[in-house]
Order: sequence, then C-alpha cells, then structure tokens
Amino acid sequence: MSKRISIHGQWSSRLMFVLAATGSAVGLGNVWKFPYMTGDNGGGAFILVYLLCLALVGIPIMMGEVLIGRRGRQCPVNSLQTLSIEAGASRAWGWLGWAGMLAGLIILSYYSVIAGWTLAYLMRMVAGAFERVTAEGASSIFTQLVTDPERLLAWHTIFMVMTIKVVSRGVGNGLEKAARILMPCLFLLLLIVLVYAARTGDFSQAYAYLFDSDFSSLTLSGVLSAMGHAFFSLSLGLGVMLMYGSYLPQGVSIARTSVLVGLLDLVVALLVGLAIFSLMFANDLAAGEGPGLIFQTLPIAFGQLPGGMLFGALFFLLLVFAAWTSSIALIEPLVAWLVENREIDRIRAAIWSGIVAWLLGIVTILSFSSWSFSFNFAGVLKRHGLFDVLDIAISSIILPLGGLGMALFVGWVLPRESVLDELGGSARIGFKIWYFIIRFITPAAMLLIFLRAIGVL
Ligand code: PHE
Repeated sequence: MSKRISIHGQWSSRLMFVLAATGSAVGLGNVWKFPYMTGDNGGGAFILVYLLCLALVGIPIMMGEVLIGRRGRQCPVNSLQTLSIEAGASRAWGWLGWAGMLAGLIILSYYSVIAGWTLAYLMRMVAGAFERVTAEGASSIFTQLVTDPERLLAWHTIFMVMTIKVVSRGVGNGLEKAARILMPCLFLLLLIVLVYAARTGDFSQAYAYLFDSDFSSLTLSGVLSAMGHAFFSLSLGLGVMLMYGSYLPQGVSIARTSVLVGLLDLVVALLVGLAIFSLMFANDLAAGEGPGLIFQTLPIAFGQLPGGMLFGALFFLLLVFAAWTSSIALIEPLVAWLVENREIDRIRAAIWSGIVAWLLGIVTILSFSSWSFSFNFAGVLKRHGLFDVLDIAISSIILPLGGLGMALFVGWVLPRESVLDELGGSARIGFKIWYFIIRFITPAAMLLIFLRAIGVL
C-alpha cells in the first residue's frame, strides 16, 4: 500500500515533532497537579509507581496513537475510519475519534479558563501585588479573581484568541513555529526558576520530600491516580497524539521518539516539583495544599523572597507557555476534522472551534461564582459544581475509555503486519514485548482506572 500524506502538512523534522508533542504533554498537569499528587501519595514511592505507569500504560499507548496517526494521515475520526475499513472492521471505530474530539473541546473550555488565571497572576506578579503578602492576603486575591466572572471572561477570551491565532496558521507556520519558539523558552524559564529556587529555597528538603520512598502512605487509590495522571499528562486517549503523529515524517522511529517525549514530560514535572517545594519549605509553608498550591500558597513564598516578584512573574510566564502549547494541541483534531470534512479553510475552522470552546468555558467561569454547588466524589468534597463534574467525567472516565479504545484498535483491529511495518519492520524482542503490553496489559490497566472511577473498585 502506498503511503499517504496529510493534507495539512507535516513536521519539518523529528526534533520538531518532539518539541510539539512535548509541548502538548507539558501543561498545567505537570506544574499544578503532579507536585501535590506526589506529596500526597508518599513522595518517592509515588514516583516509582508513576514511572511504572509511564512504561506500562503511557508510552505504549502513545506509540499506538502516533502509529495510527501516521498510518491514517488524517484527523482521528477519519484515520480510525479509514484504517478500520481497510482492516475489514466496522466503521464505528470512528466514534472513538468523535469522543476524543469532543472531550478535547470540553477540556480546552476549562483549560483556557485556568490558563486565564495564570495570565492574571503573571500581571499581578509584575505589578508586585504579592510583595510580603500574608496567607489571608494571598487567599483573598485568589478569591477575588475567581469570583469575578467578568474578569475571568476577559482573561479566558485573551487566552482563547492566543490559541486560535496559532492554530489558524496551520501546521508549519502555526503549531511548529509555536513549539520551536515557546518550548526552548519554557526550558530556559524552568532552568532559571530552578536555579533561583535552589539558591533561595530549601533544596535538600524538597529533594527528600519528592524522592524518599514512603511506601506506607501509598494506597491503591494512589496507584490508580498515578496511572490516570500518566495518561492525562501525556495527552493520551483523545486523539491528540494521534493527530500529531499524522504529521510525523515517514522513517522517524515512533518508539524512540515516544520514549523521549514521555521522559521529557517526566523530567519537567520533577524539576518543577523540586523548584516549587524548595520555595515552599524555605518559607515554612505546608506542601499538601492540593489544588490551591500554585495560586494560593506559592505566591506567599515568592512574596517573602528577594527578587520574588520577578521570579514569580517568570514562573507564571512558564505556566502560560506550557498551557498555550497544550491548548493548541487540544483544538487541533477538531480543526483538522472541519477542514477535511466540511471543506472550510483552516482560519474559519479555527475560529469556529474557538468560539464553541469559548462559549463552553463560560460554564467553568460561572462554576466559581453564581453557579457553584458542592458534591462529594470518592470521599472528597468538590465545591466547584459543573467544572468539577466535567473534570471528573473527562479525566476519570472518558480518557481511560479512550485509551482502552486506542489500545484495542492497535492490538486487535490493525493487522499485525501494518503495525510492524509502521514501527520499523523487525519483529525483535522489543516489538514483541510492546505488542503484548498493548494487547493485554494496557487494556486491563485502563479498565481498572475506569472501574475505580465509577466506584466499582
Ligand atoms: N498534557 C496536558 C497537561 O499535562 C493536558 C492535555 C491533555 C493536553 C490532553 C492535551 C491533550 O496539562
């Protein structure tokens, strides 16, 4: 079979794919969620489990998604449909692409609101709002922001326009250019913040907190959340990596690049964690603050340290870049689908997709003020109404099911020869292990996360 090409273009090199895919993977999940999850679940023990999850679930599925994409060379819906027809299977596999595309849109709607907070915090740092701030002061700045729908809407709008602007320019001038510029800046910012944290903060305590294994505080629920997070952090289950794979030049090793992207994502999460906890511990702040860590506790630390406002601003700039390269990935499958199936140009496709995500974002905005309600989920009190409902539905149910679907498609629907061909053509031991994992281990793991999410486990 002759190899297809994508009508949208392709990455100009392997490095560009690595930068773009890492850009999608490194996001709010790494900077905001991973550090406090690690702290809550026994530090080093959690990290060991997370590494296992990357190896057994994350990277194998990433390889699978990239492989489907490069074989199909279209948006997730069309790639899955084309390949299943060729394999003599049901076209219904296209639904997997649909579900991912819609889930991506929903994630983007709230991701953009939170990214808007980071823009607002960047401005507040620049303005010196946190200089010598007290705990009450920091928490009132946060509450004022999130309970002011108009302000949130303004930041959300700005962020969405930034996203649409990049995506409307296409693969080469948009996505690739953003990755080429923003990712090196992000790495540089991370380095600067890390050095600052090491010099002014308590590095050794942070190191111990993250890497001393304490298996006693690791529970089954901790293990399963490591698995779920590996998944979210690597942007899997939605077809985003599939989409990025469809722009991957032929001949680039899917296995090696996927491992590299997975490791980069992990390294960024660990370094961010080290920086954040060094700053917190130097100021005697508690680490187990959950979601409030970045927006309520960390600014207090910056407010007390020399040069804190400048480095705080750099930290939030880093977060803006990380969120930006993830949000363009979230919207790309829908934009590509519109271009392929509705024959409209990319600029219109990007604008329409952006408008829908923007409108949906209003639900999240109001979830922090007039529409807020509380409920209990898995023993935890959730206070932000529909925002929490969406977040739970997506990350605990849709993503694992999406991952299950991708694993089954690669492991059981695609002919073994096609899979082998796409991965480089030799059925060596590495391939055999991966193929076994994707057929048996990964589906079982996905099912576990799903059963836990719906309360059966
Ligand atoms: N991986 C991103 C993060 O860690 C989130 C994301 C999920 C981005 C799915 C794209 C697709 O924040």
